[in-house]
Amino acid sequence: MSEVSAPRAPVALGILLSGRGSNFMAIAEAIRAGRLQGCTIAVVLSNVADAPGLLAAQELGLSTVTLVSKGTPRAEHDRNMVEALRRHGVDLVVLAGYMRVLTAEFLRAFPDRVLNIHPSLLPAFPGLHAQRQALEYGAAVAGCTVHFVDEAVDHGVIVLQRTVPVEPMDTEETLADRILNVEHLAYPEAIARVLSGGYAVRGRRYLPAEPLAS
Ligand code: GAR
Repeated sequence: MSEVSAPRAPVALGILLSGRGSNFMAIAEAIRAGRLQGCTIAVVLSNVADAPGLLAAQELGLSTVTLVSKGTPRAEHDRNMVEALRRHGVDLVVLAGYMRVLTAEFLRAFPDRVLNIHPSLLPAFPGLHAQRQALEYGAAVAGCTVHFVDEAVDHGVIVLQRTVPVEPMDTEETLADRILNVEHLAYPEAIARVLSGGYAVRGRRYLPAEPLAS
């Protein structure tokens, strides 16, 4: 069993996003509402110059960085991101709709310090179009997973999962909306859980470091 210490408060989050940014906004709102005590958003970084999430961050007066990934070799792009995140003093990297796989070098720069949210109940339906995959498979239950990021896609240790039903008349859009609603609750809750103190990882299981009182 490996013990992993939580980052110490105050914790500076570095948000990585590629698009809409609704999960980022949910985290920002959780901080504003005092549900993520001791947390600040140090920087919002996007690999897409016109990502709506980046604009939303600017409107909130947060520091933003754009590092366009298209046309930049992956290793160089990720090195630039590490440099920007370090410059902003980031303790915990939060992927919020960041649609690129991170290099091993990036992950070594933030060991046990990168979280992701994925719109399926992993290990089911990793990769792109998770909601479409769930519908096409005929799953009766769908949901989201917050997990630590490792070198495999949508694979790291799971911090928290939340479920939603799949309804007979669902389209990819209606199912994605239902999942997104629980993502917005799950991500702040998972971050709070990670920051709440020590935890241990046994095999793939994420466990509180202190035994739970019986
Ligand atoms: C969310 O549904 C998130 O789970 C998904 O992208 C969407 C981003 O929405 N992420 C992945 O599929 C990562 N594999 P947002 O930009 O509104 O937060």
